[in-house]
Amino acid sequence: MPTALITGASAGIGAVYARRFASRGYKLVLVARSLEKLEDLAAELGAAYAVSVEYIVADLTNSDQLQTVSQRLSEGDIDVLVNNAGAALLGTFEEADATSMERLVALNVTAPTLLASAVLPSMVKRGSGAIVNLGSVVSLMPQYFPGIYSATKSYMLTFSQGLSAEVAGKGVYVQAVLPAATRTEIWEKAGADLSQIPNVMEVDDLVDAALVGFDRREAVTIPPLADVGLWDTLEQARAVFPSGLGGSPAARYINHS
Ligand SMILES: NC(=O)c1ccc[n+]([C@@H]2O[C@H](COP(=O)([O-])OP(=O)(O)OC[C@H]3O[C@@H](n4cnc5c(N)ncnc54)[C@H](OP(=O)(O)O)[C@@H]3O)[C@@H](O)[C@H]2O)c1
Repeated sequence: MPTALITGASAGIGAVYARRFASRGYKLVLVARSLEKLEDLAAELGAAYAVSVEYIVADLTNSDQLQTVSQRLSEGDIDVLVNNAGAALLGTFEEADATSMERLVALNVTAPTLLASAVLPSMVKRGSGAIVNLGSVVSLMPQYFPGIYSATKSYMLTFSQGLSAEVAGKGVYVQAVLPAATRTEIWEKAGADLSQIPNVMEVDDLVDAALVGFDRREAVTIPPLADVGLWDTLEQARAVFPSGLGGSPAARYINHS
């Protein structure tokens, strides 16, 4: 039986990932801060799917608690890491306070990076494994989402693409999942009214679509994007950049005055 470790499994997208991987026969390691929710989900999944479910109560913005999860990942038996735990921070960059931004970067950027780093050596050694990183469509259109949330999600996309290029040849699959607005608690926690947002996806639909992409080994899965040609065009534009950029400044930056 393979094992999946899912962060932010106590609610929303992470809880649905836990249900889906349990239904596929995976053993689970669930991570979040809410003990009670993790206990309830572990009991539900153990009873419904007869899989073993462990949980780790950890605040991933706390470096000691993050280290506990990294330690579990480095034990060598994790086949799938779902880097899902995350939060939103609404409002403009101008009005954002330093503590909130620091926590957001710790949760949305630092934690998934260090967790992937902890699990990767054993995956490379085995020549198999998967890392799923939750990004967001706002990373492709940051002009519609003020503040640094979209930048943290851009990191997840770039991180996934770079890591994929690095480890695909070693048998490790990396997927970036880019949801648009999805019906979870994240909005309310951030102080937003979900009823004011058009085109909200149901969380079961989001995860089921993301898993279609996972099974196809897509590098980037954007569940709400109907026209995949838009994404292909963006990727083709990226691919025209030569890998050997460097040397002299481009002619337009040479001051001849
Ligand atoms: N929902 C959307 O519209 C949407 C759109 C694009 C991308 N995403 C991304 O999808 C991912 C999941 O979001 P969601 O909508 O499912 O959010 P959610 O319903 O608010 O769930 C977030 C999960 O992360 C956990 N979490 C939050 N802070 C944590 C911390 N400091 N340490 C450990 N765990 C923590 C929460 O559990 P505890 O509170 O128990 O710790 C919960 O299990 C996030 O990365 C988010 O950015 C969501």
